[in-house]
Order: sequence, then structure tokens, then C-alpha cells
Amino acid sequence: MKFKETHPRKVRGESVHMTKEEKMEELTIKGTQLQVTISGDEQEPDMNGRLHDMKGKELESVEATYLVPDDNHFVDAPDVNKLERRIKLWLKTGHPVHLIGPTGCGKTSMAMHTAKELGRPVVWINGDESVTTTDLIGGYSQIEQESLRDKYIHNVFKSSDILKADWIDNPLAIACKYGYTLIYNEFSRTKPSANNVLLSVFEEKILELPTKFGEERYIEVHPEFKAILTSNSIEYAGVHKPQDALLDRLVSIYMDYYSFNTEMKIVQKHTDLPLNDVKKIVSVVSSLREKLPDAQKPGTRACIMIGKGLAASNGSGNADFEQICIDVIANKTCSPTDLLEKQKLVKEAIITLK
Ligand SMILES: Nc1ncnc2c1ncn2[C@@H]1O[C@H](COP(=O)(O)OP(=O)(O)OP(=O)(O)O)[C@@H](O)[C@H]1O
Ligand SMILES: [Mg+2]
Repeated sequence: MKFKETHPRKVRGESVHMTKEEKMEELTIKGTQLQVTISGDEQEPDMNGRLHDMKGKELESVEATYLVPDDNHFVDAPDVNKLERRIKLWLKTGHPVHLIGPTGCGKTSMAMHTAKELGRPVVWINGDESVTTTDLIGGYSQIEQESLRDKYIHNVFKSSDILKADWIDNPLAIACKYGYTLIYNEFSRTKPSANNVLLSVFEEKILELPTKFGEERYIEVHPEFKAILTSNSIEYAGVHKPQDALLDRLVSIYMDYYSFNTEMKIVQKHTDLPLNDVKKIVSVVSSLREKLPDAQKPGTRACIMIGKGLAASNGSGNADFEQICIDVIANKTCSPTDLLEKQKLVKEAIITLK
């Protein structure tokens, strides 16, 4: 039925009581103006294209806010650069790269930095025993039930239920669909069966969504999709030994602790301490690494922690420094005798500095 005007529908120049068609028209005009402001483009607007563009811009700003790793403290040094070039080379060939190294040597930082350098948004997931295939690919988050009741005919009650399932993508599916870079930290801690879905992603470039049917079951992997996986060499046999088939599809790059000079640069970047203090820290940690078993060796993270403790203690008297070092390396100590042994090693390392 056409709306028939019976009085001027304006109050202080503003339209009131608009028909549905008029409201739609106004919204459309507002949408067009907003789009013109965003793009600064004065050409005649094509509504569909523009609204689509607007979504694209929103997506870009979301990507920029949430999916770009913050690596402001990242230090470039010759050994760091060399490693980065090796990783980029293999990613360029389309192979997923697996970084293996001891605790705290810089695997995750390197993965994040390289991923950021690729210029694509980054998604990541941390492996552990409870991670399932659903955590990787996504799943139905909720089932919405809608009931329709037809009560028009007396004594006849007709009803129909519609079940709507909402599918939510998780990091692997997002990365495969949109060509993002996936960082899968400590992937060897995840049960091999949960990681099976990666096999066809890496080999056939197809992601299979086992809980979907028909055409929706398969996603063709975007050509820009890249993956960097990390695992810890100490626990390499890991909680779960990753299956050979998966390892076979990865290019594995072994990382060790960075060189003395690079570690100094890293500690300085994170703490702003004077060079003398930084040198003392890295020397003590390096000497402890030589004497402690693999599983207890302090990494670059330990150097940074000692540095932060030292900076906070506002002085670099020996007493403080020794205690700070002991506190940081005591984290993997299992008995008082073990602690005494570590205290002795720290004292010796500090004495040799003099
Ligand atoms: N190139 C670098 N520039 C600046 N900081 C770095 C660099 N590499 C490592 N770091 C710092 O060293 C610390 C340990 O690095 P990271 O967490 O990447 O190690 P990891 O090998 O992933 O450790 P874990 O085995 O515990 O997962 C972090 O504080 C990180 O910021
Ligand atoms: Mg890590």
C-alpha cells in the first residue's frame, strides 16, 4: 500500500515519520557520503562496490590492529639476519619452516619477526596436549534454534524448527583461506592425531574440514599461505613425538643461542643498561651454559631477566648482581643441593669476570 501524505512530515526542518522506503533511501545516501569521505574519491559512487570496499577497509584496519606482531625490540645482527634469510628462502619455495632450538634462544621472536617481514597478517596458535583439530581449523560455535508456530487455524498447531549452525574459523582455517602467515608454537606438544590436518595443507594444498559436508568440506589453500612452526630441542621427543609424515613435509632449521655480541645487543635493547653491565650478564650466562646440563641452560630470556633485575635494583654492586643471577637461574632447580651448586657456579663465573 502506498503511503499517502496527509500533513507535512517535518519538524524544525527534520523529516519525521518516514516511510520504510524513505528510511532506506536516507541510509543509502549516508552510506555513500561516509564512503566518499573515507576514500576521498569524488567519482560517481557505485553503491555495491563502495560498501564492499568499506568492508575491505574495516578488515584492513582489524588486520593492522590485531594481526601484526609487535617486534619493536627485535635486534638485527649478522647471525640473526643469516637465519632470517634461510627461513625466508624456504618460505619462498612454499615449504613450511620448523625452527628447533633450546628454551629461550629466540625461536618465537624469530618466527614473529620473519612473519611480519612477509607483510601478510599473522595468526598463531600454541601447541599443547589439549589442542584438538577443532582448535586448529574451527568448528560450530553454537546451534541457534528458531521455532515457527502457525496458530491461524483453530485447534491446529503447526510448528517447524530451524537449526542454524554458526561456523567459526580458527587460526589454520583463517590462514589457509586468506593467505595469512601461521605461527604454530611448540607444535610437537600437540597430539599427532590433532595435527594430521596439516598433512594435506602442506602437501596437496587442501585444508579438509572434517565436520563439514559436500563442497564446503575442502578449502583450497591460498597461494600466499605460509607456516612457521617451532619446537623445543630439549623436549624434542616431546610429550608427543610428532609423526614422521609431518616432519617430512617441514624444512627444519636448528637454532642455537645467538653469538655473544648479538646477545649483548638484545639485552641492551630490552634493558637500556650500560655496556659494561650487559657484558657482565652475558658473560655469566654463557659460562653457566658451559657447565649446566642442556635442560637447565639459561637462554637469552634469562639474560634479559637478569638485566631487568639489575636495572631495577638501581646499582650494580656485586652483592646485588650475584643474587639477581641466582634468582633467575634457580628456576629449574629441584633441590637445595642443586641450588647450592648453582650458587657456586654463579660465584665462580663472577670471579672470573674480574
Ligand atoms: N633477535 C632478537 N631481538 C630482540 N630480542 C630477542 C631476539 N631474539 C630473542 N629475543 C628475546 O629473547 C627472549 C626469548 O626469546 P623467545 O621467546 O623468542 O625464545 P624461544 O626460543 O621461543 O623460547 P621458548 O623455548 O621458551 O619458547 C624474549 O624476551 C625475546 O624478546
Ligand atoms: Mg617460544
